[in-house]
Amino acid sequence: MRLGRTEKMMLEGRYGEACKRSLELIVAIAESYGRGELIKIKSAHVSGVSYKSIGDAGLEYLKDLAEGGAKVRVKTTMNPCGFDLDKPWLFDVDETFFEKQLEIIKSLEAMGVQPSLTCTPYYSDNKPRRGDHIAWAESSAVIYANSVIGAYTNRESGPSALAAAITGRAALAKDHTDERKPSVMVEVTAKIFDYSDWSLLGFVVGRLVPDEVPLIKVKGGTMGDKLKYLSAGLGTSSATSIFWTAEQDFQEPRDLKRIVVTKEDLKEVRDRWALTRRPTVILIGCPHCSLREVKEIARSLKGRRVRRGVMFLILTSRSVYRKASELGLLEIFERAGAHLVKDACLAVSPKKLSRNDVVLTDSAKGAYYAETMTNATIALGGRRACLEEALGI
Ligand code: F3S
Repeated sequence: MRLGRTEKMMLEGRYGEACKRSLELIVAIAESYGRGELIKIKSAHVSGVSYKSIGDAGLEYLKDLAEGGAKVRVKTTMNPCGFDLDKPWLFDVDETFFEKQLEIIKSLEAMGVQPSLTCTPYYSDNKPRRGDHIAWAESSAVIYANSVIGAYTNRESGPSALAAAITGRAALAKDHTDERKPSVMVEVTAKIFDYSDWSLLGFVVGRLVPDEVPLIKVKGGTMGDKLKYLSAGLGTSSATSIFWTAEQDFQEPRDLKRIVVTKEDLKEVRDRWALTRRPTVILIGCPHCSLREVKEIARSLKGRRVRRGVMFLILTSRSVYRKASELGLLEIFERAGAHLVKDACLAVSPKKLSRNDVVLTDSAKGAYYAETMTNATIALGGRRACLEEALGI
């Protein structure tokens, strides 16, 4: 293991016990799948923020670190937690969950982690530049950062991202080098229209080639917000930390094996998640919505009212929420009876969904986790279908 002077001092405990323990974890990772070297990072993004995901053991671990004086050495943001801190009642939060969730956030903040509480930190809270080496957890954000922004990050776990933040180092592995080339070409013959199609495409590609790095070729190209949905779908069903597209500037490897994704491949999953009953919960914003998406949804809601018996949740980050508030958009959501929600992720919330509930979402990742973690019936539909069902039009 090649270590610099500072790293050796960290391991000797000269930067405190928390930093020593954190570097030991990073070194163990570097020894198991890295190149026997560490790399300095510019930012970190930690997951495992919800009390539902990490429980008492995770909370104690974070408290221990914070009380031991651990501090992050680089800009660090946090993933969503179990509820909107200003609207806990939307998520069936009880007193214990509420208090323990706040303790988790407090411990992370004590270490210097920004309470961004979002899975799309790249919109404004934590914006890496092309070529930056970072240590991010949250698969959708990892894939977006690598594939769309051109940063370099391993697909970190919650604890490894936090350890990287505290030490300012990550394990130097393939994802921090230019060896992260595509290993399979995916030709998409299916027509891809809206965000739900992009997330479904990512999900299907991940299922077909879960251990490959795909080069995805779609007619009409792959640019813009839709790549966020592609990243999230792909991260749900595969182990990859990056995808490539024909629009990127890179040397396409020769003799790549090739697979085709047809409309039948997408239809198979769509049929499994077809809407058969009126939804009781409609979810948009997995990953969290950009300001542009929030504006578009506000336009559709203006002067209208959400149907009785439907809880319409639109998830976003607190920084986008703040901007929406400055633009006077919150009133539109409130008047329509829709909930623009910050800080939260339904998959890691304590929200009680019963067998009688039907959750409609435009995100394959959202559908997958809602199905895995609740007894509700799950449906995947386009954004327009979500809005029309919400408004009963
Ligand atoms: Fe974000 Fe939760 Fe979806 S972390 S990507 S809203 S499952």
